[in-house]
Formats: sequence, structure tokens, C-alpha cells
Amino acid sequence: MFERLDRVPDDPILGLMAAFRADSDPKKVDLGVGVFRDAKGETPVLECVRKAERAVLERQTSKTYVAPAGNAAFNQAMERLVFGPAHPIFAAERVRSIQGPGGCGALRLGAELVRLASPQATVHVSTPTWANHVPLMTGTGLKLGRYPYYEPSRGVIDFAAMCQALETLPAGDVVLLHASCHNPTGADLSREQWQELVPLMRRRGLLPYLDMAYQGLGSGEEEDAYPIRLFAAELPELLVAVSCSKNFGLYRERVGVLHVVTEKPVIGVAALSHEVRVARSIYSMPPDHGAAIVNEILGSASLRASWTQELSVMRARINGLRRQLVVALRAACPARDFDFIAHQQGMFSLLGLSTDQVRRIRAERHVYMTDDSRINIAGLREDNLEYFAQSVAHVLR
Ligand code: LMR
Repeated sequence: MFERLDRVPDDPILGLMAAFRADSDPKKVDLGVGVFRDAKGETPVLECVRKAERAVLERQTSKTYVAPAGNAAFNQAMERLVFGPAHPIFAAERVRSIQGPGGCGALRLGAELVRLASPQATVHVSTPTWANHVPLMTGTGLKLGRYPYYEPSRGVIDFAAMCQALETLPAGDVVLLHASCHNPTGADLSREQWQELVPLMRRRGLLPYLDMAYQGLGSGEEEDAYPIRLFAAELPELLVAVSCSKNFGLYRERVGVLHVVTEKPVIGVAALSHEVRVARSIYSMPPDHGAAIVNEILGSASLRASWTQELSVMRARINGLRRQLVVALRAACPARDFDFIAHQQGMFSLLGLSTDQVRRIRAERHVYMTDDSRINIAGLREDNLEYFAQSVAHVLR
């Protein structure tokens, strides 16, 4: 049977991880997969995670099953983190949540729910978007559409073109949006632009599906959640997929959650019952350990405070590197404007190199970035910034 299968290409992001590990050149620079790195180039376990993990393990007396919807206390703590503790959707019982295996698992759960409720719906993603959005959405059988988002030649969002495209969509279609730290561009909508989307979504009967993988790594915990809180207050329905990989540094533990916001509580109860069935039919239950750690942190005033502090250190490092990178690139490539990098936020920016230039920088300078020239800013260090800027100049010549 399996002879029929041809080998498929490696994943555009995860394939780079393997290629980087196999490169023995001491100068190699990893700007591929989106993981935070500190000044030494390491991805440390957060101090608050270490403490919470110890507490969880000490208290744990059983490894018995939890539930297909995961850890209920974690789901509730995440609702409070994402929507803010006093959001009116809580009193109105408008939100139901299911823990997913990572942000990817949560995204897929949301797409499965759309397919069950409305199999003819199309999910529209930004141009460009995170590479894995496409298989996560279309793997369910849903159709994919694209809306314009980013103007690479100027390093800015083309909001007018985006709105114009959304205005033409049929009611019942889904618009996948990045809540903050847009992946791969680093270019986020302003508050005013999010506000402009509200009447558009309502008028066109579109379902916003917000992906939040970087809460706190853009402008701050509260600031990054702004579009979610706004849409939940103003629109009848909303899907929100959240990842704890980056902001809690829990990548391999696979911690995520899907929040389903509905107009009436009874609709949410039905939606959750479908989600539970979907989970049971794919993986039965999400892994518990990472969610238990996040729940421990969010439930303890001191651990929560230290998480906020560690998160702000990560954010400051990324923003500092953005500014330093612009200075280094100005010096190395004076004919090219890279200043947009300092105005963007989160882990990523698109350099605007051609695929050919990306392949050359990898082969000749051992600098790894995805083929669309996305760089993980956090992969840079004070001691390789200069080498990196010179490498960009090398392929631009
Ligand atoms: C990335 O975009 O590099 C990260 O979100 C990791 C991943 O799974 O692709």
C-alpha cells in the first residue's frame, strides 16, 4: 500500500531546524524556527516555570486521565488572561474553551468546528501568513482564500486593500487574523484599524478567527489582547486560538487553548460538545503537564508576577535587537532601507530578499532563514549581528 506514497518536501520551517543542526560551520546563525533565545543563544526554561513545575510534581498523586477538554482550571485561567478578568462575556456566559495540544492543535480544533457548522465556508488568510496556517485550515476540507495584507516593498500593511477584499466576501466566511506579532511580517494593525474592522465584519457577516501565539511579546500582555477583547465585546461570534509556547517558553509541552465566543450560552454548550467529540476522535485528550504548569503560574500571585517580569525581559530583548539590527544594516547596506524592522513587533520580520538570495545566504554564509526571507529576530546575538548584516550585504551585491 505505502509504495504509492511519494516523498513530500520538508516543512518550510521545521525542515530548517534539521538543516541548521546538521551544519557544522562555527559561524552558523539560526534565524529559522520562531523560538526565543537569550543573549547566549539559548532558549531557557523560565524561572517561574521551574518553580511551578516543582509544585505541580510535588502535589501530583495520580496520572489518571483528565478530560477531552483538558484541564478546566487552565481553560478558565486562560480565558481570564486573554479576555481580561472583567470582560462582559463572562457574566453573559458567552465563552467556552477547550485545551488543545499546542496552538496548532487549538487552531485545528477551531477549523474543525467551522467545518462541522458550515462545511461550505472558506477560511481567508493574510498574504503572507504563517506557513502552517494553510494545512491546519485546509486539512479539515475547508476551502482557502487569501486577502492582501502586507506590502513588502515598503514594509507596511496595505489596510485599504485588505478592507476592500474583505468587503467582497460572502456572509459566513471566516477571516483568520493574527492578534499581535504578525507571523511572518511583524506588522500589526493599529487600534484604529481593528476598530474599523468591527463594522465591516458585522455588516458582511464574517466570522473572525484570531490566532494569538505571542501574547506579551509585542507591546504587552494587555495591549496584545486588544483586538480579541474588542471583537468579543462588539461581535456575536468569535474564535480565538492561543498558544503558550513562546510567552511561557513551553514549546515542547504543547500547551494551547481554543476559546469559542457565541451569542448565547446554549450555542456555546453545543459547540463545545462537538469540540469534545473532535478531540476524542483524533487524540482523545491533550497532554496535561504544560497546562498544569501554566495554571499554577496564573493561579499564584508571586509566580504570575515573576512571569510578567520574565516576559517583559524577553520583549525588551527583542525590541532592543530590532533597533540594533537596523543600525547594523544601515551601515552594511546603505543603499537599502531596513528601518521598518524597528517599527514592527514580535519575533519576526521579512527582509524582502529573493528566494535565490535566501538560498545563497544559507549556502555561502551559513545564515538560516525561511525561503520568504523571514528572520527570527530573537535568534540574533550581539556577537553575530555584525556578521549577519555583512551577510545580507554579501547577497545584495
Ligand atoms: C514559527 O513560526 O517558526 C513557529 O511558530 C514555530 C512553528 O511551529 O512553525
